[in-house]
This record gives sequence, C-alpha cells and structure tokens, in this order.
Amino acid sequence: MLPPPAAAAAALLLLLALSAGANDIASDAAALQAFIAPFGSATVSWNTSQPTCSWTGVVCSGGRVVEVHLPGVGLRGNVPVGALGGLDKLAVLSLRYNALSGPLPSDLAKCAELRVINLQSNHFSGELPPEILALPALTQLNLAENRFSGRIPASIAKNGRLQLLYLDGNLLTGELPNVNMPLLTSFNVSFNNLTGGIPSGLSGMPATSFLGMSLCGKPLAACRTPISIPPSQAPALSPEGAGVDLPRWARSVVREEWTSEVFDTELLRHPGAEDEMVEMLRLAMDCTVTVPDQRPAMPEIVVRIEQLGGAGSARTARSVSMDDADDRPLRPAGSIRES
Ligand SMILES: *[C@@H]1O[C@H](CO)[C@@H](O)[C@H](O)[C@H]1NC(C)=O
Ligand SMILES: *[C@@H]1O[C@H](CO)[C@@H](O)[C@H](O)[C@H]1NC(C)=O
Ligand SMILES: *[C@@H]1O[C@H](CO)[C@@H](O)[C@H](O)[C@H]1NC(C)=O
Repeated sequence: MLPPPAAAAAALLLLLALSAGANDIASDAAALQAFIAPFGSATVSWNTSQPTCSWTGVVCSGGRVVEVHLPGVGLRGNVPVGALGGLDKLAVLSLRYNALSGPLPSDLAKCAELRVINLQSNHFSGELPPEILALPALTQLNLAENRFSGRIPASIAKNGRLQLLYLDGNLLTGELPNVNMPLLTSFNVSFNNLTGGIPSGLSGMPATSFLGMSLCGKPLAACRTPISIPPSQAPALSPEGAGVDLPRWARSVVREEWTSEVFDTELLRHPGAEDEMVEMLRLAMDCTVTVPDQRPAMPEIVVRIEQLGGAGSARTARSVSMDDADDRPLRPAGSIRES
C-alpha cells in the first residue's frame, strides 16, 4: 500500500491539475495516481519518474491517456471517487478479473469519450448508474459476473450505439426494459433474477442470452397469459410440485357447483352468456383430458362450438373464447403465477 501521505499527495496533484483547467498528460498522470493510490504499489507499480504513457496498462494517443488495461492484477476494494473522471480522453477502460467492490464511481460519467468499459468478474455492487449507461460514445459494456442489483434502466439504450451488453451473473431484478438497440449484436443477461417477458427488441438474441431465469417469450417458450382466480377458489399446487393443474381445478369447481366465479364479471354482463361459457369451458376441459385418445376430434369440436354459437350472436360466441377471457385478469388479486 502507498502510505497515506502518498495517496493524499496524488489527490492533491489531481485537484491542482483539474482546478487549473489544464487537461493534459499531467492531469492524466494525476488521475491515474489518484486511482491506483488506494490499491498500493504491490500489484501495479507505476514509476512516476518514467513517462506516463510508458506505465503498465496505459495506452496514449495524441499525447493523452486513451486506454487503461489492468486485467487480473489483484486490485481489491473500492474504486476511489473523483479519480478516473479526470481522464477526459479515456476511450477504453478494462479492469476485468480483479476484486473491485462497491458502487461504480459516478464520475466515470465524465469520461465522455468512453467507448469500451470492461469490468467483468469483480465484486461491484449497487444499481447500474444510468448516467454511465447513457455515456454518448459507449459501444461495449461488459459488467458480467459482479453483484449489481436493482433494475436494468431503460436509459441503457439512450445513446443508440451499444453493440455489446453483458450483464450476466449479477443480481438484477425486475423486467427487461423494452428498448430499441439497433446496433446490439452481443447481449447476455443470463443468471440474474429477472422476471417477465422478453421484449420484442431483444427477441432476436439467442436463447443462451437468457439462461437460468424464468423469463418467457421469443426466443424462449411463449408466455402464458396469467388468469386470475378468486382467492377463495384458488387451485392448490399439484402434488408433483409442477405448478397449477388448471383443468383439474376447473373440473373440481364444475363438480361441486357451477359458479360465476370462474368468469370475468365483465363477460357476465351479457345476458344468457353464462350457459354458453359453461359449455365452452366444458369443451375446453374435454380437450385437455390427460389421455389424448379421450379428447374430442376436431370435427366434433367444431360442431359443439357451432351449437354454442348458433343460439347466441357472433359477438357472444367471441366473448366466450378463452383467448379473450385470458386477456385481462378476472380480479385484481391472485394470479396463477403468484399463487
Ligand atoms: C523509476 O525510474 C527511475 C528513472 O528511470 C529509476 O532511476 C528508478 O530506479 C525507478 N524506480 C523504481 C522503483 O523502479
Ligand atoms: C431471486 O429470486 C428468488 C425467487 O424469487 C428469491 O428467493 C431470491 O431472494 C432472489 N434473489 C435476489 C438476490 O434478489
Ligand atoms: C451468456 O452467459 C452465460 C454464462 O453466464 C453463458 O453460459 C452463455 O453461453 C452466454 N450466452 C451468450 C449468447 O453470450
């Protein structure tokens, strides 16, 4: 570790360089020293008597620091705030495979020319800072295998330039934002705690971009529209633990007594519709009996539906269709997915 006076001196240098408004290689050097100070010289030793552009992992262009690559050098602990932000020409920052922790330093958002951020495999935590995600030049963002939590903000697509976004192996929750990222070709959110459907803007990604979660929709299996069940009637989980056995539950309700609880109260505003709904539900249950041979054949199904619709209007027949009934919840409370 650098002794505290050295760290203080580095910070002071940076402050002086920045307050002078002189952004040059000297301010870059001060920013780098302020960044490395808390980690000590054990893993990275930058000899300040040597030119900054010759330091390990530092790449210059036009006499300014434009890239910093320090992968797997044993950096451990929080990145100091107010250090990296001083590298105003920084385009590439790679600190992957270290043990960096804490939140991303917010001043990173000051590096307006950042194109590539690779912080894979560290212990960074906290939420994804929207101002960093929205950096105007950012094309590649790899934050995989950290401990980031919270939601993925919709501002992630703000600059419209992102080509690579790896967020796999974090603790992110909530739903994927429905964003349009026209240039995105590499995407991974596997092994987080995301829920819900995959938005259309991401449905062209491979299934392996969404591993280890119960997301649904293209390229994964289609989402099942949740059907709300009155809490008092909510079906128990099947004994196999494989989820709700809806046909069995419906059959049990039918056996006990017919009840309008099964249907959306909205639908019941059509007089006489309940009988048709009951018949349609019976037909639906016949179509889902466990033994395939016992299910009615298509011609029979057609006849039974025609008999249903014959008496009522076309509109009534339509309103009986399960698709429509599934579109919106019966009741605000209690859905199959939640139960
Ligand atoms: C730093 O560089 C100077 C000048 O080249 C050299 O004399 C000195 O030994 C170096 N210090 C270390 C710790 O390598
Ligand atoms: C992830 O989701 C599971 C199930 O909903 C929950 O038990 C667990 O606590 C969640 N973990 C995090 C880190 O949010
Ligand atoms: C996403 O990352 C997981 C590991 O976290 C890996 O198994 C999977 O192949 C990756 N998929 C893509 C498309 O990168």
